[in-house]
Parts: sequence; C-alpha cells; structure tokens
Amino acid sequence: MKSSLLAILGGASSALAAVRGFNYASQGQDYNGFASQFKTAASLAGASDFTSARLYTMIQEGTTNTPIDAIQAAIDTNTTLLLGLWASVDQSTFDNEITALKSAIQQYGSSFADLVVGISVGSEDLYRISPTGIAAGSGVGQSPDTLVNYIGQVRDTIKGTSLGTKPVGHVDTWNVFVNDTNSKVISNCDFLGLDEYPYYQTTDTNSIDNSSFLFFQAYDRVSAVAQGKPIWVTESGWPTTGPTSNLAVASVDDAETFWQGVACALENRGINFWWYILADEGASPSFGVSSNGKPLYNLACNSTAGYTSTSSASSSTATASKNGTATASHGSGSGSGSATLSTVTASGAAGAGPSGAVPAGATGSSGAGAGGATATQNGGATGTNGATHSTFTGAATKAQGSMAGLAIGALFAALVL
Ligand SMILES: *[C@@H]1O[C@H](CO)[C@@H](O)[C@H](O)[C@H]1NC(C)=O
Ligand SMILES: *[C@@H]1O[C@H](CO)[C@@H](O)[C@H](O)[C@H]1NC(C)=O
Ligand SMILES: *[C@@H]1O[C@H](CO)[C@@H](O)[C@H](O)[C@H]1NC(C)=O
Ligand SMILES: *[C@@H]1O[C@H](CO)[C@@H](O)[C@H](O)[C@H]1NC(C)=O
Ligand SMILES: *[C@@H]1O[C@H](CO)[C@@H](O)[C@H](O)[C@H]1NC(C)=O
Repeated sequence: MKSSLLAILGGASSALAAVRGFNYASQGQDYNGFASQFKTAASLAGASDFTSARLYTMIQEGTTNTPIDAIQAAIDTNTTLLLGLWASVDQSTFDNEITALKSAIQQYGSSFADLVVGISVGSEDLYRISPTGIAAGSGVGQSPDTLVNYIGQVRDTIKGTSLGTKPVGHVDTWNVFVNDTNSKVISNCDFLGLDEYPYYQTTDTNSIDNSSFLFFQAYDRVSAVAQGKPIWVTESGWPTTGPTSNLAVASVDDAETFWQGVACALENRGINFWWYILADEGASPSFGVSSNGKPLYNLACNSTAGYTSTSSASSSTATASKNGTATASHGSGSGSGSATLSTVTASGAAGAGPSGAVPAGATGSSGAGAGGATATQNGGATGTNGATHSTFTGAATKAQGSMAGLAIGALFAALVL
C-alpha cells in the first residue's frame, strides 16, 4: 500500500471547526438566565462564535435530580454542550447526577444529543486532594479510584443511548495530570479537560509577559502524559479587576494581552476551549470578558494572533489511521508554536505490521509556519494497527479530516493507506 498525504492549512480555525465557548455555573441560574447568557455569548463583538457551554453539573439548582435548565436553553439557542457531572460526592449523591443524565437523554432526545460535545466526570477533584489544593483550602475532592469508577458508571449510563458515542473525560489542573498516581484516570478518559490559570501560579514568574509561556508550558506538560488523548482547555482567563497575585496584575489591558496570547493561539491551533468567563460582575477577582453584553476589551483574533514559542527540544507524536481520523499530541518539552500554514508530505513503503500494511519509513517536511515556526521532519515511521506513528520536532495539535487529513501546527504527520 502506498501512502501520501497531507496537510494544509491556513485559516485553520474554520477548517477545524473547533469548539469555543464559556463556562457556566449552575448557581442562581434558571432557564431564562442560561438562555440570556447563551444569546449574549453568541453575539459578543469579536467572539460571536463562542457558542458552546461547559457545565459543572447535570442537576438544576434547587432540585434533587432534575436535568439542568441549561439543556433546554442550549436547544433553543443552538448552543453546544460540554456536560459535567459533579463528582466530589459520595455514591448516593452521584446517583442524582446519573439520574439527571438519564432523564435528559429520555426527555430531550436527539435535539439534545446533537449538541453534546463531550461529558466530563468531575472538575478539579484531584487538585482538591493534592497538597496544593489542600493548602489552598479548596474543599472536598475525590480519589482517582472513585473517579475511574464514576467514569465507568457514566459510560454504562450512556451506552446504547443517543449519547453513546460521546467522549467521556475529566477536567483537572496540569499538576495533577502529571502526577503518576492519577494516570489511571487519564487511561479511562477519551479527552482531558485542562484548567490552567497563570494568574494563580504564584510560585512562578507569572507576570503578564510570561503568562502565555506558562500556559503553554502547562499544556505541553499535560500533552506529554496524555496517552494520546486530546486535551481541551476547559478553563482559563485573566482578571480585569482584583488582587495582584504574585507578579500577576488584574487589569483590562493585561486581560486583553492574555486573551490575544492564549485564546487566540488556541483558536488558531484549532483546540477546543471554554473560557472563564462570559461575565461575573461583582466577583473579585473578576474574570468576565464582558459586562452588560459588551466586551470589556478586544476579543477578535486574527489568523496570526497568539503565542508562539521559540523554545526547542520538543517532540510530538502523531498518529493517523486508515479511517482518516488523526490525532497528535506533544511530547515533552514545549512546542514551536502555532503555525498557520503547514504542508507536509509523506510517503512510505509498506511493511509488515501487527495488523496489515504499515509504512517502513516516512519522510516529510513542513513549510514555514507563521510566527516564525519552521520545521523539517525526517522521521522514520513505524505503525501498528494500520496507523503510522511519526516523531518529529515541532508542535502538532489535534487534527481531523477526511482521508486527506488536516493538520495545524508547525508540522504534521502521515496517513498511510
Ligand atoms: C447550529 O449551529 C451550528 C454550528 O455550531 C450550525 O452549523 C447550524 O446550522 C446551526 N443550526 C441552526 C438551526 O441554527
Ligand atoms: C498525587 O496524586 C495523589 C492522588 O490524587 C495525591 O494523593 C498526592 O497527594 C499527589 N501528590 C502530589 C505531589 O501532588
Ligand atoms: C517564565 O516562567 C518560568 C517559570 O517560572 C521561569 O523559569 C522563566 O524564567 C520565566 N521567563 C520569563 C521571561 O520571565
Ligand atoms: C494580529 O493580532 C496581533 C495581536 O493582537 C497583532 O499584534 C497583529 O498586529 C495583528 N495582525 C494584523 C495583520 O492585524
Ligand atoms: C478510527 O480509527 C481509530 C484508530 O484506529 C479508532 O480508535 C476509531 O474508533 C476509528 N473510528 C471509526 C469511526 O471507525
């Protein structure tokens, strides 16, 4: 078999149709509250494609196990959903989350299922039992074993239903994902949700100038242990008002700088993300990007905006399968940035592999990426189960496409047929 292939791209964000949105708390919200926020997010100047909502619980506030009103509001406003089940609770309370999930599936059918991007079991549960979380008095958490058990319960619940094919994952902070004791949670996830705030990294040089570096350093560290699972950014943000946090100063200017550095890089790399937060008037620190429906700073991202690292020594692994689904993840080290144009061709002679033809070797080279990212690849590729695994320098991010594949990143991988 012969291979060839790949990728392109410029204007990657539209090509990849990554999901973008905000986080929405359940407290104090009903149908009208959710619907009005979803409409605001969908028409926010500069960010009008922020049409996804990440939720923390399936349960409507004030009820025992009634599905959260955000679901009907999402259906009525065409808002996609990253569902959440609150997992830092005992089995009998978690049963209420499961009941609400089951009821939502029965009650709303495909109009609901069509909007679901994924399901997160828990949010920062492992952080709260980590030494940092305990020192910060962050509250009740959950053990890795129980999370694995709860993830299994959610998989059993959705099996054979309209949500049966939806990815199930877990949201946490970078430092707990790299803690080996928690790796069993990663193995049981289809995706990892990363919450990452340089503002709170008070033992690092967390001035705004270094904030994008810290963010992507954390992202890359999680990539290195992600077992090939996609990493979605489930929370990040920078406050416009509030206390100084080590070297991080809350200000509108710095929040805009962080948005341009991080949100725009995620957008241009085609990574799913849910920003924290649409609006939180009166909170301190206040992370809201808008007030009364108006952005507090420029939320528009052009195709070259966003952080690009200049550091080297990274390796990324990409796999591409016959069915045209490609995934890629960073190896250790930090990547070389968000290229918006990248062309890789690869070819390989067929060789024997565990289940069919695999390439004996593949070579490719990338074109120059925007933001100064250049890379070439001369990688030997080995494959298993019909997939190639190419190792190369540079940053690769999730790619999806047809057989031709689509890639964004400094470089990309080969698809072998
Ligand atoms: C809902 O939004 C999606 C994009 O997320 C779009 O493709 C689709 O046409 C929209 N549907 C309606 C009914 O507006
Ligand atoms: C590693 O994870 C385990 C389980 O979540 C936790 O008990 C332990 O404190 C963590 N260790 C560190 C250094 O964070
Ligand atoms: C960025 O932060 C890291 C981690 O704290 C630190 O080692 C590095 O020196 C910082 N870089 C700059 C330019 O401040
Ligand atoms: C793109 O956005 C970045 C960051 O805001 C800015 O520095 C740059 O000038 C913009 N480029 C264009 C062509 O508008
Ligand atoms: C595509 O291939 C991957 C890797 O072999 C596999 O995990 C996935 O289930 C396949 N998807 C479909 C829709 O066949």
